[in-house]
Amino acid sequence: MDSLAQNIQSVISKKSGVTRLTLTDFRNYAFLRMNTNLRPIIITGENGSGKTNILEAVSFLTPGRGLRGARLADIRRFTPAVVEDDYVPSNGSWAVSAMVYKNGEDFEIGTAVENSPKDEDDEISSYNKRIVKIDGQKAVSQGELGQYVSAIWLTPQMDRLFRGGSQPRRSFLDRLVFAFDNEHAKRTANFEHLYKQWYQLIKSTNGRADNAWLEGIEENMAAIGVAIAAARREQIARLNSFIENEPDDVFPNVILELDGTIEKMLDKMPAVDVEDFYIDKLKKERRNVLYNDSVDGVNRTDFKVTYKRKHMPAELCSTGEQKSLLISIILAQTKCQILYQGFAPVLLLDEIAAHLDNTKKEALLDKIKNLGLQAWITATNRDIFQTLKNDADFFEIKNNMVTQL
Ligand SMILES: Nc1ncnc2c1ncn2[C@@H]1O[C@H](COP(=O)(O)OP(=O)(O)OP(=O)(O)O)[C@@H](O)[C@H]1O
Ligand SMILES: [Mg+2]
Repeated sequence: MDSLAQNIQSVISKKSGVTRLTLTDFRNYAFLRMNTNLRPIIITGENGSGKTNILEAVSFLTPGRGLRGARLADIRRFTPAVVEDDYVPSNGSWAVSAMVYKNGEDFEIGTAVENSPKDEDDEISSYNKRIVKIDGQKAVSQGELGQYVSAIWLTPQMDRLFRGGSQPRRSFLDRLVFAFDNEHAKRTANFEHLYKQWYQLIKSTNGRADNAWLEGIEENMAAIGVAIAAARREQIARLNSFIENEPDDVFPNVILELDGTIEKMLDKMPAVDVEDFYIDKLKKERRNVLYNDSVDGVNRTDFKVTYKRKHMPAELCSTGEQKSLLISIILAQTKCQILYQGFAPVLLLDEIAAHLDNTKKEALLDKIKNLGLQAWITATNRDIFQTLKNDADFFEIKNNMVTQL
């Protein structure tokens, strides 16, 4: 066994993950509690029974908008009776709480939406906000969650990740960065906020906004943007060098590349100079806002994946191949987290069997088992998990109730 594999082995013997999950008024669940072990958790049920909702709840133990990228207002449970009576609930809250285990310690994590009273004059204060508590203490930012729990998901929507527009690829990439850099979540949120402010200011004034004001925003955007680009580059480099030593098996080796102007500039000059370049660039980009053209920068960076052995860009690979490439990335990220962060992420694998042939499905289950991961896995059919019969917890959902088998 080489030293890398040995290091991974020593960390995975420590285990990490969710040991208790409690949902309140979350999607189709009025109340749900699941006690879970640090091993694969197989959740089966008919279409619409509530499998993905459970994985989504676990994903809310990490920063961001969960595996569906949902609006907070859609998550609160509603019942047909409520809808029929045309009754608007006065309290739109929902909650997910969990006991998580990491390196021999238990932590209690809770997340919920906090409803600020609606105030006509103040739009900001009437927003629903997701708050996070760690061991009963309100966290300053969602980024703090990263120290206790980490999750990586693979959903049927991601089967098209390499084909459509760049936005979902960019969020996927940024989530890979979060795990190593807790500040990255805050950075991307701040950049998005500044970008909207800048864009609206230019649009609403038809380009005649106060120059000093615009420049102030552009300076902030450039500083945060360069930090975002640098963090993305670091993560891509880390993954590429790790993948070089990975087996090129049913989950083939990949080459990861960033396609973004600011990221590329960081190859050529020091970060402070790139920042000046970006400030200058944003000033020139103002006219693209006015002419409704796309604005270049870290908001447009793309993430390119190549099937190494075949020299084939991911977008030209078959559906099953694309899924295998994604699994390669996810497995490499998982191992990197184990190795460098000292604890394993929880995997959330929705509809695992979709597009995977039997060999690949078995290979994936085998890798999960050998890495000692907690993986929440959904399927409509329990029979495909025969090989995990003695190594997983099995749950079945019926009528909004979850039963352990
Ligand atoms: N806010 C909500 N309140 C109540 N029910 C909701 C809410 N949001 C979604 N649902 C319902 O929850 C049910 C379960 O959804 P979920 O996506 O978890 O099903 P699933 O078991 O994953 O199904 P599939 O096998 O089709 O993927 C759906 O019928 C959906 O309409
Ligand atoms: Mg589903």
